[in-house]
Amino acid sequence: MYSNLSKDELIALCKERKIKGYSGKKKDELIKLISPVEPASVEPASEVISTTTLEENCIYFGECIEMMKNIPSNSIDMVCTDPPYFLDGLGNDWNKEKIDTKGSSSLIGNLPKGMKFDRNQSKKFNEFYSKVSAEVFRILKPGGSFISFSSPRLYHSMTMAVEDAGFEIRDMLGWIYCQSQVKAFSQDHIIDKDKKMTPEEKEKLKELCNNWKTPQLKPAIEPMCLAVKPIEGRYIDNFQKYGTGLMNTSEKTGDNIFPSNIITTENINEAMDKVFLVAKPNKNEKGDYNTHLSVKPLNLISHLIKLFTKENAIVLDPFMGSGTTAVACVETNRKYIGFDINQEYINIAERRVREYKK
Ligand SMILES: C[S@@+](CC[C@H](N)C(=O)[O-])C[C@H]1O[C@@H](n2cnc3c(N)ncnc32)[C@H](O)[C@@H]1O
Repeated sequence: MYSNLSKDELIALCKERKIKGYSGKKKDELIKLISPVEPASVEPASEVISTTTLEENCIYFGECIEMMKNIPSNSIDMVCTDPPYFLDGLGNDWNKEKIDTKGSSSLIGNLPKGMKFDRNQSKKFNEFYSKVSAEVFRILKPGGSFISFSSPRLYHSMTMAVEDAGFEIRDMLGWIYCQSQVKAFSQDHIIDKDKKMTPEEKEKLKELCNNWKTPQLKPAIEPMCLAVKPIEGRYIDNFQKYGTGLMNTSEKTGDNIFPSNIITTENINEAMDKVFLVAKPNKNEKGDYNTHLSVKPLNLISHLIKLFTKENAIVLDPFMGSGTTAVACVETNRKYIGFDINQEYINIAERRVREYKK
């Protein structure tokens, strides 16, 4: 990857990336020093690439790890995605039907959605995302960005999976919002159900626990991991060859402000809005037929795409859901490829794209 660079250029690259131990090294030793670390704990991504080439601007029905095997190595400019989170023991076949059939209204195993804690969630998610990330690493061009949304509870395991696949973790972005439901709950109903306590004992315990709830702060941030596939040579070489690796700083937020790692999509107050706001979501942008539970704001995704790609770039969303990434690509004049295991969502996504184009 670096063999076309001179020894001096390799040393300059070590300095630029703050890599120590380069002095006195021969050219091949310098190349080893610079080359990205091979994925350690992750199975290597597929070597055999199918001859099928996926068409651009299409959303395909299928499991994304399998589907990505149809994409040639080093061919995608950016991957921007919002994966399933494995919360509530729902497995990786995240879909609305499963959630809805797991109990009446919003109860899952007697606990409201998102409140059932399982120590294995994090491990299972890490294993799943390691496989996703290994394949994403293979198909991205050097310097290509990989942005994954996540839940604050699982950010750590997701990011380790991404890093272990060979990516450089560049930042944590935070989408912050004010409107959300408090999820912490009181212990009164547990006390009420206890068959061993007398009514007096129950009252006493309720008094003791008054105002004390399960440790869950009101959600106000959705973290995203910003990872980059290591560049080939210097930034300028990589950008000339692949059009990736640098960030587009003409893409601003708020009052024409340099993009920061906090992003908002609703008015908060004058000081915050001046700096962090991307345009607010349009009331109709989801489509009133959209049954997906986790639709992202269109302007947020468009902002991320414009930051890390040039026009006509190819953006992949392996978990396309109701198609926000696809609509954002149409809006920003990029090309998209998407996958989802739920045909109902694909139909919604395709309809959103069609209606956006009208
Ligand atoms: C959080 S949602 C994405 C929502 C999307 N960002 C939007 O704005 O509509 C995740 C999606 O991943 C899909 N999914 C889950 N596991 C998958 C897999 N292994 N391969 C492909 N899609 C999967 C689900 O059907 C769901 O639609």
